[in-house]
Amino acid sequence: MSDSSVSNDFIEEIRDFAAKLSIRAGERALEMREGGALAQDFKQEVELVTEADLEVSDMICDAIRQAYPDHELLTEESEGAAAARPDLEKPTWIIDPIDGTVGYARGHFQFCVSIAFCIKGEIQVGVVNCPALNELFTAIKGQGALLNEEPIQVSQTDELKHSLVATGFPHGWDGIDRLVERLGRVRNCCRDVRRSGSCAFDLCWVACGRIDAYYEEDLKAWDLSGGKLIVLEAGAEYGFFADNLRHEHQEIRGYANLAGNPKVFPQMLAILDERTEHG
Ligand code: IPD
Ligand code: CA
Ligand code: CA
Repeated sequence: MSDSSVSNDFIEEIRDFAAKLSIRAGERALEMREGGALAQDFKQEVELVTEADLEVSDMICDAIRQAYPDHELLTEESEGAAAARPDLEKPTWIIDPIDGTVGYARGHFQFCVSIAFCIKGEIQVGVVNCPALNELFTAIKGQGALLNEEPIQVSQTDELKHSLVATGFPHGWDGIDRLVERLGRVRNCCRDVRRSGSCAFDLCWVACGRIDAYYEEDLKAWDLSGGKLIVLEAGAEYGFFADNLRHEHQEIRGYANLAGNPKVFPQMLAILDERTEHG
């Protein structure tokens, strides 16, 4: 981004604000879970939502509205979120209050609070907090990625056959056989596969080198935006293994995402590639 009207001081202020907010939000999510049974519901009959998703979403949005009343907000839990097409030109926050709800509700540690800040068409700040592990991942565009304030890098694994690869699945059952067939092709070429249940978690684990690649067909902007900047700033290659069939904004595109260390990325792309338009 070349526009000097968005100062580095402002972007650092946003990063610090988002980081503190994600820690408060994570504490609240843990506290609600420890407090006992969470009220649960299903969106479109298949997608679990708990009272914690809603409360944490409100907590984050209220804090942002108070601090930055003229900024745009897109949270998974707002009405009409699925159809929203933010242009990201104005200051825009993209929030997944709990990414990995299914595991969260079952007492797993693989869930995250994800907050991204975009302006002038780009994600400029990414914050992903994994509260159950006390791990806070942050990135500012062009300034590298941090885990608990220490710089992180993607793995050095250079062959797919030695790689750990993560993926995820949508909440419903439609098309699942096709996704499982694809996973079989990947598993045949790598060391093993992982399924954490949180896109933000998977992207951050690629960023810090615990796994080597992550792909998923059907993501939303709030799943990926925070983790995407973190993994890119940690040195990953990031791209798409199919055409942009949904005509999404490229920066927050959820269809057919692939991230990996630069050695493993092309090997994964060769297995997954369904593009007709290259480049
Ligand atoms: C889900 C997680 C999961 C991914 C799904 C997402 P949610 O988000 O990121 O890993 O496979 O595609 O919907 O519903 O737990 O916020
Ligand atoms: Ca999510
Ligand atoms: Ca969520």
